[in-house]
Amino acid sequence: MARREERLRELAEELGGATVVAADLTQEDAPARVREALESERAGQLHLLVNNAGGAWRGRFGETGWDNVRRHMELNFDAVVRLTEALLPLLRASAPSSIVNISSTAGRVARGNSGSYSAAKFALAGWTDALHLEEGPNGIHVGLVLPGFVATEGFPQRELVERRATRWLVSTPDKVADAIWDAGPGGKAERYVPRPYWLAAVTRTVAPRLVRRALRGGGGTVTPATGGDARPAD
Ligand SMILES: NC(=O)c1ccc[n+]([C@@H]2O[C@H](COP(=O)([O-])OP(=O)(O)OC[C@H]3O[C@@H](n4cnc5c(N)ncnc54)[C@H](OP(=O)(O)O)[C@@H]3O)[C@@H](O)[C@H]2O)c1
Repeated sequence: MARREERLRELAEELGGATVVAADLTQEDAPARVREALESERAGQLHLLVNNAGGAWRGRFGETGWDNVRRHMELNFDAVVRLTEALLPLLRASAPSSIVNISSTAGRVARGNSGSYSAAKFALAGWTDALHLEEGPNGIHVGLVLPGFVATEGFPQRELVERRATRWLVSTPDKVADAIWDAGPGGKAERYVPRPYWLAAVTRTVAPRLVRRALRGGGGTVTPATGGDARPAD
């Protein structure tokens, strides 16, 4: 599911047939629409839920304020929680099953200029850690994927890709897909993409002063850029 129906239909055709639901996940009725589609077209069977839709809109809190925090929370956290709540009964009834939530390395290490994005991704990571413990006994494995920089439509990572010195930092959607599989049916609790990015999270915990010093004054150049419908990356 996503908002652009035409693209969903093209993908379904490429896959040789799939049920598609075109909806904005931040809308009130979206979770119920997905659940109804699964009940009517898939006999209520659901073995893997991937909560991937997300977006980032740069800006310092002093300039973008609560509006930008709310916008991030609505898509990157609230929508995930609401969809999961609507589909949990189907996942339990279909167990063994899995949920994979896509957070971000920014959900473990915050940078300036993307505090709203980090707030939502930190929330998602914390909630996922708890859900992992709660739903295991019900036969649902809950995994977390924390990508670093990945070149996509919404996060083109132009500043990094254009410079030879930083190009190596940028990963691919295929690698994220592998990580999603590992964190879902593969049974892993969490996966960074690329894997060495876990070092950033560990360093933030064991040497926070060092990380603060390294990030001071920065955050404007390599922060994830935009969501699909956001203003272009600058
Ligand atoms: N790329 C990176 O560097 C990076 C790094 C860390 C984490 N992540 C996370 O990875 C996930 C995927 O990001 P991406 O890089 O693939 O971004 P993307 O290219 O912008 O793709 C976002 C996807 O979500 C859908 N979507 C966006 N808003 C939606 C809404 N309101 N309702 C329903 N669907 C919506 C989009 O389709 P429509 O526009 O058709 O709705 C699109 O399929 C996000 O959660 C992002 O935060 C990405």
